[in-house]
Formats: sequence, structure tokens, C-alpha cells
Amino acid sequence: MKKLAAGNWKMNGTAAALAEVKALIDAYPDPACEMLLCPPATLIAQMAWAARGSVLKIGGQDCHTGTSGAHTGDISAAMLADAGASYVILGHSERRADHGERDALVRAKAEAARAAGLTAVICVGETEAERDAGRTLEVVGSQLAGSVPDGATAANAVIAYEPVWAIGTGRTPTLAEIAEVHGHLRARLAERFGPEAAGMRLLYGGSVKPSNATEIFAVANVDGALVGGASLKAADFGAIVGALSAAD
Ligand code: 13P
Repeated sequence: MKKLAAGNWKMNGTAAALAEVKALIDAYPDPACEMLLCPPATLIAQMAWAARGSVLKIGGQDCHTGTSGAHTGDISAAMLADAGASYVILGHSERRADHGERDALVRAKAEAARAAGLTAVICVGETEAERDAGRTLEVVGSQLAGSVPDGATAANAVIAYEPVWAIGTGRTPTLAEIAEVHGHLRARLAERFGPEAAGMRLLYGGSVKPSNATEIFAVANVDGALVGGASLKAADFGAIVGALSAAD
């Protein structure tokens, strides 16, 4: 399995930020891990052009369930692919919170992504109240069951565990807590998908930065990271790529 360092730019970045992409590619022309950036939709085609001929992959941050039609403001998976994307983040907690996305919708979007040839990065994660109530494994297990489609494979699906309370806060779970959740996700995937589950990449996301990446990547069943704020600067994201490349 090739590990994955994925950056989620969220609603950040204009054309001027493409200089960071060029710097990243120059610094990491051939990392041992896979390298992915998911810019806002407005930058996908330009970023794909900037990354042409390099190992950097480009992804979207959301897609519609349909292929085309009367859905003002929405973007289909096929359109993302056409713009140069090979991945799409789905079910991020910010979309679940800001747009009321539920598991069934995330699952339908993942089906659409698969049909368009995109790899879906499907996100799960508990709120602080859910963790405090001791419901973390129940919540992420139920999100996983509801959001991952039956046709998921190691090639077309990546799972990202992002505790909502760790996103953009500088706080992270303990390494033991990350290990517990990732072990749980792997076990649930194995129950459902059998041996295929061993190859499905499980990313940790939530305040990953150069200073904590190495210890997080040493945790069992952590196959990479989904990085927000620290993915905006080539120096920071590059350091995380370097840490993942150096991990066993
Ligand atoms: P931060 O790395 O900024 O905490 O964001 C994590 C995230 O939500 C990535 O999808």
C-alpha cells in the first residue's frame, strides 16, 4: 500500500497560491508516499496544469450525486475528473455541519465519484460531546457503515478519521486514542470487505503539522494524513510528506 499525504485547502487560495504548488513539486519530485492537494474548485484546473508531469495528484472537496443537470452551484464528479482531479473529499465534517450532509448522501456521492473514476476520501469523526459521552467508536462506526458504498475497494476509497474537535484547534487525540479508532475502523472494514480492507488507506486528520506528523505516522493503521491549515504552505506540507515518506 502506498501511503497518502493529502492536503485540504478548504475555502482558501487564489491563483497566487499556485506558487506553493510549484515549490512543493520542486522540493518533493518523487516522494515515497502519494501526494494529493484538494484546492477549492476554482483552482482545480489551474493546479492540475501546474502539476502536469509531476507525481502530485489533485482532488475536489465535494461533488454532486448526479452527472449533470439543473443543480445551480453544484459540480459533478465527472466535471472534477475533466478538470484534472483524480480524488474527491466527501463527507467532511464541515460539509456535514454547514450543509447538513448525512451518511446516505455521502454514500451516494461516493457512488458518483466511483462511476467517474475518482477515488473518494470519505471522512468520519466524532464531536467533542460525543467523545466525552464515550460514544466515539459507535459514532465513527456508524458513519463508516452509512457513508462507504458497497463497491468500495482499496483503489477507489480512502477513509479519513477527523475528530471534529481536533480540526483547526491545535488539539489532537492521544496516540492511543488514534490507534483505538483506526483499529476499530480497520476491523469494521474487514468485516464488510474482507481481505480488501487491509489495503484501504486510513488517514488521520485534525491539527496535523510538521511537529506531530512523525509520531502520528508511527501509530498502527495510520496510512497517511488529511491536512488542513498546514497544507497551505509548501514548507509545512512538504515536511509532512517527508515524515510520511520516512515512516515504515
Ligand atoms: P486542520 O489540519 O487545519 O486541523 O484541518 C483538518 C481538516 O479538516 C482536513 O480536512
